[in-house]
Amino acid sequence: MSSVILRNINKSYGNLPIVKNLNLDVKDGEFVVLVGPSGCGKSTTLRMVAGLEDITQGDIQIGNKTINDLPPHKRNIAMVFQNYALYPHMSVRENIVFGLKKSGADAATIKQRLTDVSEMLKLNEYLDRKPADLSGGQRQRVAMGRALARDADVYLFDEPLSNLDAKLRHHMRTEIARIQHQYNMTAIYVTHDQIEAMTLGDRVVVMRDGIVEQVGTPMDIYLQPTNTFVATFIGSPAMNLIEAKLEGEELVFDQYRIPAAKIANVDMHSLSAHDTVLVGIRPDFFEDSALSSPSDNLFEFNDIQVDLVENLGFDKEILFKLGGEDAKARLDLRSHVKRQEHISLSVDLNRVLLFDTSTQGMLLNAGEV
Ligand SMILES: Nc1ncnc2c1ncn2[C@@H]1O[C@H](COP(=O)(O)OP(=O)(O)OP(=O)(O)O)[C@@H](O)[C@H]1O
Ligand SMILES: [Mg+2]
Repeated sequence: MSSVILRNINKSYGNLPIVKNLNLDVKDGEFVVLVGPSGCGKSTTLRMVAGLEDITQGDIQIGNKTINDLPPHKRNIAMVFQNYALYPHMSVRENIVFGLKKSGADAATIKQRLTDVSEMLKLNEYLDRKPADLSGGQRQRVAMGRALARDADVYLFDEPLSNLDAKLRHHMRTEIARIQHQYNMTAIYVTHDQIEAMTLGDRVVVMRDGIVEQVGTPMDIYLQPTNTFVATFIGSPAMNLIEAKLEGEELVFDQYRIPAAKIANVDMHSLSAHDTVLVGIRPDFFEDSALSSPSDNLFEFNDIQVDLVENLGFDKEILFKLGGEDAKARLDLRSHVKRQEHISLSVDLNRVLLFDTSTQGMLLNAGEV
């Protein structure tokens, strides 16, 4: 296994910059997840690490060796592509062991790896089939198996579970987490799936338009997003952002007046320089006031009219208006709110975030505005 260092990486197609001054250190044995909207440069970044795309500027190191000019087959990287390509003339078995054989592994190792991987990916009964005779999800698992069977320094995964149904996806996610811990794999994993990002990543990298917006542990990103983009991209349903006027020490919208000093980590001095701020509240952090236990730091939004209730089993999502905009709350099954009812919702002010209306950056304590 090896660390991966990306230093000031730039990639342009013609004059069009795609990846802009990207810096990332992936530690030996670390699992890093890349997320971001379609077209932001995730696959391009992986392909540069794999050597399938040259870099316009910057350095890539694997295990402290600069590998910019090393051809892909000399990098000892295993990759699962977004558009996975299997060898059509080979059976599933041959596809899985192909890379392992090429690297000169002995017969016993090959047999053991094949057994491990095909059990893990539930491919036992398909080993003699050709890719053309498999479903999309089965092919994707073979592509995954081919990468995992290898003994690589670095594993790159580009949305490897995107074609699987929800149940299989969950199974595979758990399996990936298990083998990652078992083999201490160094991996960079691209996904659109929030749950995969949160559960698999030691750290998550949020990209937008070729730029890294934030790198942090999943909980850092969830609880301390650096700006409104990260705040609304991570977490589902997305964080509510409500524009509030600052009047004295209160944040004001609709009939509500939130005492700003009670919000965690607020620097009242720098806040006072603002006329308005964006108040960020995750749907998860609302509670039905009828069910919340009393606490000093709860703020109550009374007289909320429920526009819609979506029952999801354990959770229910409710839609209502805050500051003139659509807002969402996720309540648990103990709440019996109904459409058109008027209710009170509470939120712990320690969980509320504030963002600068113009820069969209999070307003932090210690004058770091
Ligand atoms: N060969 C190419 N020539 C020109 N532009 C390209 C080329 N390959 C990719 N791009 C552009 O680079 C940008 C980044 O593409 P990339 O595939 O890295 O995005 P992504 O983040 O993986 O998106 P997705 O989530 O849809 O897979 C896109 O705007 C894409 O159109
Ligand atoms: Mg992609």
